[in-house]
Amino acid sequence: MSIRCNDANRAFFLQAGGCSYALQVTDGDYLAHVYFGRQLPDSDLSYLLRLDENPFTPSVNDRDRAVYMDTLPFECPCFGIGDYREAAVQILDADGMSACDFRYDSYTVTAGKTAIPGMPATFASDEDAQTLCIRMVDKHAELELLLYYTAFEKLNVITRSAMVKNLGNRSCYIQRLLSATLELDDSNFDMITLNGSWARERHAERAPLHMGKQRIDSVRGESSHQNNPFFALARPNADEDCGEVYGFNLIYSGNFMAQAERTQHQCVRAQIGINPTDFRWLLEPGESFWAPEAVLVYSCEGLGGMSRTFHDLYRTHLIRSPFRDKRRPVLINNWEATYFDFDADKLISIAEEASRLGIELFVMDDGWFGHRDSDNSSLGDWRVYESKLKGGLKPLVDKINALGMEFGIWFEPEMVSPDSDLYRAHPDWAIQIPGRDLTLCRAQYVLDYSRKEVRDYVYNMLCDILRSANITYVKWDMNRQLTEVGSAALPAESQRELWHRYVLGVYELMERFVTDFPHILLENCSGGGARYDAGMLYYSPQIWASDDTDAIERLKIQYGSSLCYPVSAMGAHVSVCPNHAVGRNTSFVTRGHVAMVGTFGYELDVTKLSEEERNMIPWQIDTYKRFCHLMRDGDQYRLANPNSNTEYDAWMFVSKDQSEALFTYVQILRRPNYRSRRITLRGLKADAYYRVEETGAVYSGAALMYAGLNLENLWGDFQSKQIYLTEVEKEC
Ligand code: GLA
Repeated sequence: MSIRCNDANRAFFLQAGGCSYALQVTDGDYLAHVYFGRQLPDSDLSYLLRLDENPFTPSVNDRDRAVYMDTLPFECPCFGIGDYREAAVQILDADGMSACDFRYDSYTVTAGKTAIPGMPATFASDEDAQTLCIRMVDKHAELELLLYYTAFEKLNVITRSAMVKNLGNRSCYIQRLLSATLELDDSNFDMITLNGSWARERHAERAPLHMGKQRIDSVRGESSHQNNPFFALARPNADEDCGEVYGFNLIYSGNFMAQAERTQHQCVRAQIGINPTDFRWLLEPGESFWAPEAVLVYSCEGLGGMSRTFHDLYRTHLIRSPFRDKRRPVLINNWEATYFDFDADKLISIAEEASRLGIELFVMDDGWFGHRDSDNSSLGDWRVYESKLKGGLKPLVDKINALGMEFGIWFEPEMVSPDSDLYRAHPDWAIQIPGRDLTLCRAQYVLDYSRKEVRDYVYNMLCDILRSANITYVKWDMNRQLTEVGSAALPAESQRELWHRYVLGVYELMERFVTDFPHILLENCSGGGARYDAGMLYYSPQIWASDDTDAIERLKIQYGSSLCYPVSAMGAHVSVCPNHAVGRNTSFVTRGHVAMVGTFGYELDVTKLSEEERNMIPWQIDTYKRFCHLMRDGDQYRLANPNSNTEYDAWMFVSKDQSEALFTYVQILRRPNYRSRRITLRGLKADAYYRVEETGAVYSGAALMYAGLNLENLWGDFQSKQIYLTEVEKEC
């Protein structure tokens, strides 16, 4: 890692892991992007900018300056001065003008990484990263723009952020400030995005770039089920193992946009940041505004290389939880077991059986507070529902602790039901447009988290509950999207800030939570996986991936999620069949193998399982405990893509020292009269030997990777197999 700055040429050269990123200040003090890709030894790449090519440059063709503005690959394109592609920054000044023109002023280089006030961001020691800050100035508007670039020592990662400060004495509005723009000099790319809906989140889609803009986004107030703030641009020939891929991810949990724009000269402008739709931020004199952090990953080892880089970055430089490197307790959650229909006795009977089988943590889900018997009431009244839990929480928790199990609890702190004491006392605390009907979603409203008194009130209720018994796990849910986005507390000129202020309020409360309760394992959730994003990972080491627990549906969800997010952060449970989301029957073994690729647990009533299935639980738990370090700390290799491969899925986790590996194969539909299927493995040492635990057979890493293993045609649909490999001294 190094950041080299050539003062004479006004060029910047960042080395991160095995890649290089180059910037250049041009005549006129514009900041141009020159290169991002494989590591290069050169420090002057200004020849790539075509600054001598007529008609693209004013020094050659001064009468056509607009052509220059519309073709220069800008690092932070400004709106309104001749660049007609998507802008990264747009300011509305006190005179009502919306053009801005930031020019290069100066730079600093510092060791380590700058934090972003009030927002999640990657962190790094002075040895692990170096940060370049480029100062840009719009003299006319009296604004400063700081562009931050962090290069990581061991990873092919550049993180970026931006900050605008008002240096003048008149207020202005920021109408957009994207976190990163990356200009690529040709358009020969496929765009990969993660899309879906409730119960089918993050299905990966891949399509060639076409002319114009292709965008995914959210205007829902959360990162959303529908699109995830991640995309990749992959060379058409890039696959899991080979080829160039650029990955983009935003460390943010609210409205976002992510876009690739193929322009008139067949270049690509790739961008990610807060969605400018309905965004406007008042910037008073002396104030500053930060954009969230964007992560840019370069891989010349295909999608697999990109994913492993994201995983390593997030596992070591984003997730802070003390649980990050620990084995998470095997949990049982009562949601699919009981829904709202439970009392203390029912929970204890499930816990008794669960503890006998070796399950370590009991999680009481929705329905324990207010008078909540359905999703029609009580959100906001975080007091125990006495007719369900007589005597309160402590007797229940004590009994569960006495069984040798930990206890966890569900909250939905950002919400309020119209039928709640909280709403009756403070109707203005819901996000709303006064005078307009409020749209219900799951019979609930969203609390105005831009207001400190609202956050404080809810937080105090949470604290009372958390301190009333021995609670070691919290599931923090968020079950609806935002509508009628207005605040009773904000002045008119700041109303459009509410989208972002809401997210900042959530972050502020989560920060308080993890500071005050470091011993509590926090799992985020949002109606399944509507906030499955890197912002949340800064606070919680795991996120519930989807309300769809069917093992076969999960293959696509887990494949897509793993493109960007480490499986150590993925909430995955074994549930009953027929599955509650799709009615499918799969074997208990397969459900276990699929859920093990995540924070393993159960979401069922163990007292109602067949003897055969119940007896499998201790074995599943032992297997998970034996191998979970590979999922948590190892390298992931996807061996199939369940979006295109309807016959099987397969993946591997290999320890960092390549001495052990776990291979999982899921046969989707059995084919009649077929022989075994040959699959080549990945990530092993070619010149080492590995023993297959089940058979005792020993093969070279080369044979396993280049020739493959034969997998028997399993009997029946939705069957699976796990194979554990350990390195042995020599061929025997
Ligand atoms: C959401 C979650 C579920 C469950 C319910 C409870 O849908 O994703 O796991 O907690 O809420 O209402």
